[in-house]
Amino acid sequence: MAPRRKKIYEGKAKILYEGPEPGTLVQYFKDDATAFNAQKKATIEGKGVLNNRLSEFFMTGLTNVGIPNHFIRRLNMREQLIRQVEIVPLEVIVRNFAAGSISKRLGIEEGTALPRPIVEYSYKNDALGDPLVPEEYIVAFGWANQQDLDDIVSLALRVNDFLSGVFFGVGIKLVDFKIEIGRIWDGDYMRLIVADEISPDSCRLWDVKTGQKLDKDVFRRDLGSLTDAYTEVARRLGVMPANATPMKPTLIN
Ligand code: TMP
Repeated sequence: MAPRRKKIYEGKAKILYEGPEPGTLVQYFKDDATAFNAQKKATIEGKGVLNNRLSEFFMTGLTNVGIPNHFIRRLNMREQLIRQVEIVPLEVIVRNFAAGSISKRLGIEEGTALPRPIVEYSYKNDALGDPLVPEEYIVAFGWANQQDLDDIVSLALRVNDFLSGVFFGVGIKLVDFKIEIGRIWDGDYMRLIVADEISPDSCRLWDVKTGQKLDKDVFRRDLGSLTDAYTEVARRLGVMPANATPMKPTLIN
């Protein structure tokens, strides 16, 4: 058997391997699902295949409208080639409608339209449970400077406009989502780009007509089959044929 490529990092839902060229990585999508900072765990067959395809679809769409991101190309059912970035240690959350933690924190009924898109940040730290942090903390602790934050808000709102439109076109309301941001250098010049993944794991997606949840809340709240929900999203977007059977992982050499 060929030796496995060097593992760079393993997270809850993905693994990063060394890429074929300097400055690249291979991002492998696992079937593992976690919620509530990994207090709830399951393996959901086919989730990784769906998220690999869906993230490819959204990142390619971002590229097509000029929003810089880490995606280079999909390699196989579970892997994609990406640009290596230095991840900014923030979860950048954009909310269009109240749901989840903002509803709990402020007592706003889920589904209430927000006066404008709200961008907020959590500090990426599993041991602390990714706490919500104000810009003041981010700048003071040097996770990002004020210019970076301006660029991050601009990226996040552009992604929001793009995704909201794409989802609305297939009868889905984009309630909220999370993105991660990476730094890349061209010589001395630093740029911020969209990294990680965009998939139903990191969005709240509600059917426009019925309000049916088509995202990871299906798993968090035990609302049925997560694979069925993600498959429905993929089907509506024309990303995968309706009856495609997720295949076993194939690794490239
Ligand atoms: P929240 O309502 O729990 O703060 O989540 C807001 C959005 O961010 C929701 O679409 C889920 C997503 N999210 C993640 O992708 N990863 C996380 O660790 C958390 C807390 C939220």
